[in-house]
Amino acid sequence: MSTQASALSKIESALASDVREGLLRPGQKELPSTWLYDDLGSALFEAITCLPEYGLTRAEERILQSHSEAIAAEVWHPSLVVELGSGGGRKTSHILRAIGLHQPALLYCPIDVSAAALRACERELAQFAEVRPVEASYLEGLAIASRWRSPGQEMMVLFLGSTIGNFDRARAVDFLTVVGSQMSTGDSLLLGADLVKPVERLLLAYDDPTGVTAAFNRNLLGRINKELGADFDLRLFEHEARYNSEAQRVEMHLRAKVAHTVSIPSAEFAVSFDQGETIWTESCHKYRIEELDQMARTCGFRPAARWVDADWPFAEMLWIRC
Ligand code: SAH
Ligand code: AVI
Repeated sequence: MSTQASALSKIESALASDVREGLLRPGQKELPSTWLYDDLGSALFEAITCLPEYGLTRAEERILQSHSEAIAAEVWHPSLVVELGSGGGRKTSHILRAIGLHQPALLYCPIDVSAAALRACERELAQFAEVRPVEASYLEGLAIASRWRSPGQEMMVLFLGSTIGNFDRARAVDFLTVVGSQMSTGDSLLLGADLVKPVERLLLAYDDPTGVTAAFNRNLLGRINKELGADFDLRLFEHEARYNSEAQRVEMHLRAKVAHTVSIPSAEFAVSFDQGETIWTESCHKYRIEELDQMARTCGFRPAARWVDADWPFAEMLWIRC
């Protein structure tokens, strides 16, 4: 291994390995969407949630604002709330407030790969619970946090914002099954999922006229420049959102405007792009209610309750571990 490669941090090495694998594979180039969330990426995501075209976050917030007490009434006073991919945690305040009414000694563990998101979460939520952030990937974080449950007490897992939609359908089932395997019978999972809706509405949400989603997408290349010393020229890539109707998902791509080559010294390779070639950076799957109920059962849960927003079809589901 070269001196340069050995100087990489653990996270940079993981990024280098994903970048090498995703950009050198034959056919469609691809990068995992997890890497979108460095400090700037997390800030840009927060900006996306304020866009008039991106109704998803506001829909979930309306549901949580109106129904958190009903949600709390369905669970048996959990002492530990763990949130996967918490982001800044703004919406979570409604849940913690409602659970906290019945459970004064509440521990809340947000799990996120973004340190900036966890800092925001701590600021936002310390007034509702003891906040113990875990900077880790979902399952590593869940393994750590689930050890902090009080004996005999219930755990509630939150997976909000339709982040489940960033997994391929088959991987979503595998992922939720593993999440369930770390939970005990009677524990609850509150899962937010965006529902299918007219394609024009979806495409505007993921290709907004202000250009915030484009900046969020392009920042992935900026991050690779910063952390791996690459020389991507961000102006040579345009943001593209497409709807794959067969897979019922929006796909985000970065399209090379001209043929060119980029070198990525810390990952020890260079990669060429043809004019018009894309890097697939994210998938955002959209669901039907019946599919979600079936998914609960396949993953070892009982679908116990569900709330759907009327203005922006979005489902908040409470699943109980069987
Ligand atoms: N739940 C929030 C944030 C959604 S954005 C909401 O509903 O608004 C997705 C969040 O998941 C980001 O904060 C991102 O940093 C985090 N994330 C992405 N991949 C992750 C992974 N593999 N493990 C843990 N967190 C991850
Ligand atoms: C975090 N995740 C659920 C968002 C989504 O809608 O899939 C990420 C996002 N990508 C572009 N805009 C928002």
